[in-house]
Amino acid sequence: MNRQFETHSPGDTLILGEKIGLHLEAGDILFLYGDLGAGKTTLTQGIARGLGVSRKEYVRSPTFTLVNEYRGWVPVFHIDLYRIASSRELEDLGLEEVFSSESVSIVEWAEKLFAREDTSIPLLGIDRWIEIHITIEEEESRKFDLKTRNLGSAGHPIFTLH
Ligand SMILES: Nc1ncnc2c1ncn2[C@@H]1O[C@H](COP(=O)(O)OP(=O)(O)OP(=O)(O)O)[C@@H](O)[C@H]1O
Ligand SMILES: [Mg+2]
Repeated sequence: MNRQFETHSPGDTLILGEKIGLHLEAGDILFLYGDLGAGKTTLTQGIARGLGVSRKEYVRSPTFTLVNEYRGWVPVFHIDLYRIASSRELEDLGLEEVFSSESVSIVEWAEKLFAREDTSIPLLGIDRWIEIHITIEEEESRKFDLKTRNLGSAGHPIFTLH
C-alpha cells in the first residue's frame, strides 16, 4: 500500500495523525522518517489521539525520555531513537518486548533500527511495519508518504485509509 497526504499547518498534521490512528490495530509498528522539525512528534500526537489517548495524558509525559507509554484503546508507545548511537544501546532499551506486545508503537528516527544503510531488515525481530516519510515542502507545508511493509494485501484497517 502506498498513500500520499499533504498538510498546511501543525493542526492539519494533528488531524491527519488522528485519522491514521483510527486505522491502526494492536501489534502495529510505525516507522517515522523526516528531518529535524519535519513533524514526526506532531503526527505522533495526532496518532495517539486517534488511538484514544487523552490530551491531558499526552501533555504530562516528559519529552526527554526515549520511550513513553500512553493509555489509549490499546497501549501506545512513543519511541524517539534520535540519541541512540549504537545497536548495543538499542538492545539495552528492551524494545523487543514492546514490539511484540499487543500495543501500537511509533518510532521517530527509525533509521536507527537498521544496522547498516544497505540492509532492509530491521533489528529487534520486526518483520512487518508501516513507514511514514515526512518531507518539509514549505515553512508550514509537509508531505507524508505512507507505505506498508509485509502487512499482507488486505485485512488491515490501514488499507481503507484515504
Ligand atoms: N504542517 C505542519 N505539520 C507539522 N508541523 C509543522 C507544520 N508546519 C509547521 N510545523 C512546525 O514544525 C515543527 C514540527 O516539530 P516536531 O517536533 O513535530 O518535529 P519532529 O520531526 O518531531 O522533530 P525532531 O526530529 O526534532 O524530533 C513544529 O515547530 C511545528 O509548529
Ligand atoms: Mg520529534
